[in-house]
Amino acid sequence: MNILILGSGGREHSLAWAVMQNPKCDKLIVAPGNAGIAQIATCASVDIEDAGEVLALCEAETIDFVIIGPEAPLAAGVADRLRDAGLLVFGPSKEAARLEASKSFTKEICDAAKAPTAAYAHFTDADAARAYIRENGAPIVIKADGLAAGKGVIVAMDEQTALDAIDDMFGGAFGSAGAEVVIEEFMEGEEASFFVLCDGKTALPIGTAQDHKRVGEGDTGLNTGGMGAYSPAPVLTEALQKQALDQIIEPTLAEMARRGTPYHGVLYAGLMIKDGQARLVEYNVRFGDPECQVLMLRLGAQALDLMHAAAEERLAEARVNWADDHAITVVMAANGYPGSYEKGSVIKGLDSCSEDSSHMVFHAGTTAKDGQITATGGRVLNVTARGATLQEARDQAYAMIDGIDWPQGFYRRDIGWRAL
Ligand code: AMP
Ligand code: GLY
Repeated sequence: MNILILGSGGREHSLAWAVMQNPKCDKLIVAPGNAGIAQIATCASVDIEDAGEVLALCEAETIDFVIIGPEAPLAAGVADRLRDAGLLVFGPSKEAARLEASKSFTKEICDAAKAPTAAYAHFTDADAARAYIRENGAPIVIKADGLAAGKGVIVAMDEQTALDAIDDMFGGAFGSAGAEVVIEEFMEGEEASFFVLCDGKTALPIGTAQDHKRVGEGDTGLNTGGMGAYSPAPVLTEALQKQALDQIIEPTLAEMARRGTPYHGVLYAGLMIKDGQARLVEYNVRFGDPECQVLMLRLGAQALDLMHAAAEERLAEARVNWADDHAITVVMAANGYPGSYEKGSVIKGLDSCSEDSSHMVFHAGTTAKDGQITATGGRVLNVTARGATLQEARDQAYAMIDGIDWPQGFYRRDIGWRAL
C-alpha cells in the first residue's frame, strides 16, 4: 500500500513511525513533514489545505490511502475532495469535521443526542452575551465558536474576565471564529481524553490519555498546545469508558449518521470526570498532539491496520491487541514558548537516544540544515518512552532527555504527576 500522511508535527511523526512498522506499507510520503519524519519517509512540500495540490501529489505518487493529521485540512473539506476522486481516506468530511470546527454545532448535536455536557447558550450579539454573564455569574467559560488554534477558550474565574473575553471576541481578536460565541457552565473535575475510531457506523475505542496543557510545573502558567501526555489515563476506568461510549460517543455517531453526515476517522472526546460521571468538554476530529505520540508508541504497527479498517468501513470486525503497558511523552519547547521564541537554534545529542519500539524522539518543529537539526517551532521535540509501569516509562523518557543538548529549549520535569 502506498500511503500519504498530511501534517508536519509530532503527531504526524508518530503516525509515520507506526505506519512504517507495518509491512503492508510499501511507500510512505508525508506532506509537508519535518526533519525527523524525513529520516523515515519521503517528505513532499505541498499546501495541505489545497485539495487540488494534494490530489496531484496522490496521482504522481500512486497513493492508495491518505491519513489526514491536523484539523485545518479536514475543516477545509480536503477529505471530501480526495474521496470524490476515489481515494481511501482516514479523516472526516467537512460537514462531520464541524464537531471540532464549530462549538455551537457540537452543542446542538449533544442536545439532539442527549449527551451529558455543560449547560450553554450561544450568542451573536455582545450585549445579550454580557447580560447572560451578569445573570449567571462566574466561574463561567467563554468560547469562540470557530477554530482558533486552541486559543479561543477563556475559563473565567471572575465576571470581569468573562466580560473582557466578550469584548475581545466580538472585537475580532479571533477573527471570524469569534463572530459567534458559546458561553458554558464551568465544569469541575478531572479531564481526560478518550480516542475512538469510527467508520460511520461502528465505534472502536483505541485508548485513553491525559495531557498537561499549562506551560509550568504543577500545571501552572499559560496554556499551550500540550507539554506532555501519558496513556492510559487511570481516571478513565473501564466503567467510565463504557459510560462515555453509551451516553456520549455512540449517540453522537448515531445523530451524525441520521443527519446524513456520518463520522469517519478518529473522534477525540475531551471528558470531564466528577463523581463517577463523564461529561463532554469538547470533540476534536483528529488525534491529539502530543496524545497521539503515546497512543502510537503503544499501538505500533496495528495502528495502520485499524485506520485502514476504519477507512474501509470494516471496524465491526477489527480488534485492538492491547499490551498491559504505559507510555509517556515529554515535550521539549523553545525558550519563550508559548510566547515569542527564537528559531534556528541547533539541537545536539539526538544520536545518544537509541530508538526502538519503546523509545522514540518524535520531532514536532524541526528542520535539517547543513547536516544539523535546528528548532523551527514552539514545541520542538516529543521524547517518548514505553514501560511496564508509568514510572518506568517516565524514568526512561527523562533519561533520554538527559542526552539531548539543547540549551535554547526547556521541558517540564513533572509530566505524569497526576497518575503517579
Ligand atoms: P476546549 O478547547 O473546548 O477543549 O477548551 C480548552 C480547555 O478549557 C479544556 O481542555 C478545559 O480545560 C477548559 N474547559 C473548556 N470548557 C470547559 C467547561 N465547560 N468547564 C470547565 N473547563 C472547561
Ligand atoms: N493536546 C491537545 C490537542 O491536541 O488538542
